[in-house]
Amino acid sequence: MTERITVIEGDGIGREVIPAAIDVLEALTPEFEFVTADAGDAVKDATGEALPAETYELAASTDATLFGAAGDTAADVILPLREAVGSFVNVRPARAYPGVDALRPETDVVFLRENTEGVYSGHEARLSDDLSTLTRVVTASASRELAEYACEFVADGRGPGHRDGFTVVHKANVMRETDGRFREEALAVADDRDVDADEELMDAFATKLPLDPTQYGVIVCPNLAGDVLSDLAAGLVGGLGLLPSANVGHDNALFEPVHGTAPDIAGEGVANPTAAVLSAAMLVEYLGHVEAGDRVRDAVESVLSDGPRTGDLDGDATTDEVTAAIIDRL
Ligand code: NAI
Ligand code: MG
Repeated sequence: MTERITVIEGDGIGREVIPAAIDVLEALTPEFEFVTADAGDAVKDATGEALPAETYELAASTDATLFGAAGDTAADVILPLREAVGSFVNVRPARAYPGVDALRPETDVVFLRENTEGVYSGHEARLSDDLSTLTRVVTASASRELAEYACEFVADGRGPGHRDGFTVVHKANVMRETDGRFREEALAVADDRDVDADEELMDAFATKLPLDPTQYGVIVCPNLAGDVLSDLAAGLVGGLGLLPSANVGHDNALFEPVHGTAPDIAGEGVANPTAAVLSAAMLVEYLGHVEAGDRVRDAVESVLSDGPRTGDLDGDATTDEVTAAIIDRL
């Protein structure tokens, strides 16, 4: 049966890099059925709603979703979409590629970020002219679910080869109750499953990762920490134009580049399609077409190594030229 994929370009360079990723998927076997849907600032301006109900329903009911980015409405779009696919983990690989000028060319890490709670659970309030508060939510169940996924991830050999097990990154020395619970549950699950797990305080990690990324492989962390630290890792490998991500649930998933709408370059046709194309490769792999996913990754790596490259990687090629080169290498 042909798998159905919801395609949401969103705003800004989402409208440039998602069509590029679809062109790459269309050059592959197997064939997919693509269903397009709207979300983001433009549809909000037009209809008053950043995430139309039809889009939510499609993401919830198709086999997988590919999403670009949304602008000011990003949180109104991506948080419900992650919920629509039942995602509990955001998988964010960050690795340097031969041929790309990286601050740390030896970087090869995968962040497994808790994707439902922490400080992104939406419990914020303005209580007075002076006081605003945020309630941080951490449950044992979500912490364990993430750690169980991490155990399977490393057991399946999906982590970088240079490190066994995973590292739990947290700030349990200060947030003793919330990060304390996250840490305790994650380490307990690893212990139950006989998976090697060590731990690192978040602030120390933010220093140690750029100094020597080879110390780390799979990194398990709370929601906000995963968001921030994976962007830090993007800086080590050559920028946001390179980082794909997967929002994985038990029977559905949504794939998106880590970057946003890049308003500074949107509309110019010069955005780097790599992050979106690699997100599409993760999607194809998630649907069970492992070889097709590998072919896309190999083609991307070959283009990163030999060019053409976009401006963020000190090249002068357009999005279309890089996409055509990727398809050519397939
Ligand atoms: P951004 O990721 O859009 O851009 C940061 C910098 O990286 C910019 O200089 C941009 O030109 C560059 N960049 C990003 N992707 C690139 C690519 N593919 N090729 C070449 N250069 C690239 O982050 P920023 O500027 O903080 O946010 C812009 C808008 O995007 C905001 O409205 C924000 O809310 C939204 N956003 C949406 C996200 C989502 O929908 N998941 C995620 C992050 C931001
Ligand atoms: Mg982010």
